[in-house]
Amino acid sequence: MPGIPVIAIDGPSGSGKGVVAERVAKALGFHLLDSGALYRVLGLAAHLKNLNLEQDQALAELARTLDIGFGENGPDSVSLDGRDVSLDIRSALGSDMASRVGAIPAAREALFERQLLFRQAPGLVADGRDMGTFVFPDAVVKIFLTASVEERAKRRYKQLIAKGIDAILPALLRDLKERDARDSERAVSPLQPAPDATILDTTEMSEETVVARVLELVKAGLPNL
Ligand code: DC
Repeated sequence: MPGIPVIAIDGPSGSGKGVVAERVAKALGFHLLDSGALYRVLGLAAHLKNLNLEQDQALAELARTLDIGFGENGPDSVSLDGRDVSLDIRSALGSDMASRVGAIPAAREALFERQLLFRQAPGLVADGRDMGTFVFPDAVVKIFLTASVEERAKRRYKQLIAKGIDAILPALLRDLKERDARDSERAVSPLQPAPDATILDTTEMSEETVVARVLELVKAGLPNL
């Protein structure tokens, strides 16, 4: 599958990468990989099965065999074993479990293989933490989106409220700080920009401006598109 262009959009939670990746993929007619959703579904599935996260081989097996569906119950929907879990995976529990399973090397390795399968013609926009550093190091365009933790907490709050999920801003801020620390300090694939990534601080930028800037970078990286 090398040769099929990948646009890697990495960054911490609430940096806006999800929405930006979705809009960029649509604008280019590319496939989309929301890698965070894979970690979230795995975390939720492990929780539902009462799996002890220290049993890393059982977790890896679960990661390899998970029945995950994208877009089956609506454009942004995610399902587990045919059941719509779009809201459950975005809950505080879903976020926490995702970050926990993300720190386990055997789980990352099992999900790594699944992520590669998303690389299909005419191209892929991949959103996550380690798309440009580890999963698709040959991505033709690498972008690292960031924003202040306060701004990211506010964005996540608005997103959750818009989806009808209860949220408390100070609790979101505390959880984000905790997850940032866990995601950045873990031994495997820690959250950090690839050396060849363009870093965009979006604290003061509108979504429109970020999408336009990313599309400019894609044009520069893929002039024949
Ligand atoms: O992008 P997100 O907030 O949906 O990701 C949820 C969690 O999943 C995040 O805290 C860490 C983990 N994750 C990861 O470890 N690697 C990725 N490529 C994507 C997500």
